[in-house]
Amino acid sequence: MSNVERIEDEARARIAAAATLEALEEARVALLGKQGSVSALMKTLGAMDPEERREKAPAIQGLRQTVSDALSARKAELEEAALETRLASETIDLTLPAPQAPQGSVHPVSQVMDELAEIFADLGFSVATGPEIEDDWYNFTALNMPESHPARAMHDTFYFPDQAPKGGRMLLRTHTSPVQVRTMLEAAKVEGSAPVRIIAPGRVYRSDSDATHTPMFHQVEGLVVDRDIHMGHLKWTLETFLKAFFEKDDIVLRLRPSYFPFTEPSVEVDVGFALESGPDGKSRRVLGGSGDAPGHGWMELLGSGMVNRRVLEFAGLDPDEWQGFAFGVGVDRLAMLKYGMDDLRAFFDGDVRWLAHYGFSAFDQPTLSGGVGAAS
Ligand code: DAH
Repeated sequence: MSNVERIEDEARARIAAAATLEALEEARVALLGKQGSVSALMKTLGAMDPEERREKAPAIQGLRQTVSDALSARKAELEEAALETRLASETIDLTLPAPQAPQGSVHPVSQVMDELAEIFADLGFSVATGPEIEDDWYNFTALNMPESHPARAMHDTFYFPDQAPKGGRMLLRTHTSPVQVRTMLEAAKVEGSAPVRIIAPGRVYRSDSDATHTPMFHQVEGLVVDRDIHMGHLKWTLETFLKAFFEKDDIVLRLRPSYFPFTEPSVEVDVGFALESGPDGKSRRVLGGSGDAPGHGWMELLGSGMVNRRVLEFAGLDPDEWQGFAFGVGVDRLAMLKYGMDDLRAFFDGDVRWLAHYGFSAFDQPTLSGGVGAAS
């Protein structure tokens, strides 16, 4: 038996005997490693004269290939066997509940805006939007607040250095009221099409910050323009809206004379509450009740009024032909009152624990028929 044949036999026996991947690796090192028997045989080729090398090289190189193939084949066998053993020993418990995929939740502000859209859609209102980077003219002047008007000082406005196309500077809108002007101007473009019924929810900005004020907050504006609109329409609309929103029939309103440059007359709308003692013994305000009775009170909720004639004129409508009412209310405040949050700042901290506590299911769409409020 030649040297090559002997080594091949040994190699095959060793490879076949390797019962584990580790043993096979040892065999590989012993055969093909630097000090391995096959490698040693390869080295002898270097010492041969050309004649002998030509004669013996094919068998020796063939041996190396054979051994290497045998190693690969055995490796595949052992891996396959290892997998079979694992599959045979592992079991899947199909009765285990699947791990829950993390679920997002709807922010209370978005929830309330959806609820508002749903309630007002039923009253024939559509949703209008306007830019948050606003022109001084829409935010103030066209709302009857000319440049030197003292009411401008009540809005701690963030101004941009940029000149606004319609005069003054560009600014972050301080309220949603400029959407009134933009909507009416659009409506006035079409002859005889002034009737407008919109709500305009969105972000507004003021340089103000404490437990009840954040530099960015949310308002919803309401605007109705039509012929023969009067304060009765205003009061009925607000009452219907608040009853639907708070899902309570005994909501009472008090209209208190007030002043806004863009409405005349202007009213502050208060809503009646009753003081009830909570589970912790502390008394809390619950909306509803008479407002005036002992143990009851009024809380200021929103600003409203009949659209000022000057605003209608600015918006290109004839105030002798068209009248309107408008209102503006804080969306964050509505959410706090309805769902019981007490710190406005938490709304914008981005803490997912807060959202997990107060957020709402994305699948729970507000509908008038199914209940406009979120269940959780
Ligand atoms: N824009 C007012 C504010 O932010 C709120 C407001 C009051 C809006 C009366 C109205 C309104 O539409 O009629 O303080």
